[in-house]
Amino acid sequence: INSAKCSATLSDTLSQTSTLADIDWDNLGFGFLPTDYMYVMKCARGESFSKGELKRYGNIEMSPAAGILNYGQGLFEGLKAYRTQDGNIVLFRPEENALRMRAGAERMCMAAPTVEQFLEAVKETVLANERWIPPTGKGSLYIRPLLMGSGSVLGIAPAPEYTFLIYASPVGNYFKEGLAPINLVIETDFHRASPGGTGGVKTIGNYAAVLKAHTAAKAQGYSDVLYLDCVHKKYLEEVSSCNVFVVKDNVISTPAIKGTILPGITRKSIIDIARSLGFEVVEQLVSVDQLLSADEVFCTGTAVVVSPVGSITHKGERTSFGDGKVGRVAQQLHTALTRLQMGIAEDNMDWIVK
Ligand code: COI
Repeated sequence: INSAKCSATLSDTLSQTSTLADIDWDNLGFGFLPTDYMYVMKCARGESFSKGELKRYGNIEMSPAAGILNYGQGLFEGLKAYRTQDGNIVLFRPEENALRMRAGAERMCMAAPTVEQFLEAVKETVLANERWIPPTGKGSLYIRPLLMGSGSVLGIAPAPEYTFLIYASPVGNYFKEGLAPINLVIETDFHRASPGGTGGVKTIGNYAAVLKAHTAAKAQGYSDVLYLDCVHKKYLEEVSSCNVFVVKDNVISTPAIKGTILPGITRKSIIDIARSLGFEVVEQLVSVDQLLSADEVFCTGTAVVVSPVGSITHKGERTSFGDGKVGRVAQQLHTALTRLQMGIAEDNMDWIVK
C-alpha cells in the first residue's frame, strides 16, 4: 500500500513539473511534456460522435475490460502546429490525418469522428495549449489524436463505446542527429506487417510490434530499424517511425503503398513536392540491392520531417552514403517542405490551415 501511494504521489508531482519556465526551447527533443488541455469526445458503438469538450490535461479513467486494453482496438495520429514568422499558428494538411483515421477506424471496426469534427477538435486543442507552441523555428506543438475502444468487452467483439482524445506536447527534432544523417540497420528476423494485416493503418499495435528490434538497434547505436517485407524478405517496407526513399541517378523511388506500409502524409507531400521540382518519383518495389547501391537515402514522417540516412547496416555490413553530409536531394526537399509548413512558400498554400 505504501509503495502504491508513493508512486501515485511521484507521478502526480512529475506531471506538474512541466512548466513553460522549465523548457529549454533551443534543445527540445521528441519527449513528452504535458500541456494544459486535452480534448475528449465519446460515442456508443453504432452511433456517431456528436459533442466533445476540452478538459484539463490529466489521467483518464477506463474499465480494465476496455477494448483497447484487452484487444488493442485503437488508432493514433500525429500532426504538428507551427508558429509562423508572421505570427500565425498553422497546421499542415490536418484533413489528411482525419481521413487516415477514418480509414483506420473502418479497418478496426471503430466509430470515427467526421473530418469536420476532427479538424475542430484539433484547432480547439491547439488554441487551448497555445502557450506551449515553441517560438518560430524552434520546434512545433505535436498533436496526438487517439481513437480507442473504451467500452468493456470480454469475448472478441468491437467495443461498445469509443473515445476520441487529443493531447499535445511541444517537440523538437525526433532524431538526436537533427538534420545530420542517421544510421539505420535492416531487420532480418522481425517484420512490422504482413499482407492482409494492419500495417497500412495507424493502429497502436503496429508500434508495439517494432519495440523489440528498435530497442536492440538503439542499444547498438543505430538511430532506427528498416523493415523488409515478410514474404520475399528482400523488399523495403518502412522504418519504425517513418517512410523511406532512395535516390539513384536523380530518380527517387519509394516502396509502393499496398497494405503493409503506412501511407505517410509527409511521404505523399514529398512525392508531390519532388515532382513539382522536376524529379521523377516512382512508387514501386524497392529491393535491398537497390537501396545499397543508391546515391542517397532519406526518410520522411510527421515526427522526423525529412531525415537523411548516412549509413545502412545489413547482415553486419555497413554501407555509407554521402560522406557524412546531408544529401543534395534530401536537403532540397527538406527546405521545400519546411518552407511550406512554416507558411513561407507561396505554392500549395491549401496544405496550410490557420
Ligand atoms: C509521426 O511521425 O507522427 C508518428 O506517428 C510516428 C511516431 C512513431 C512518432
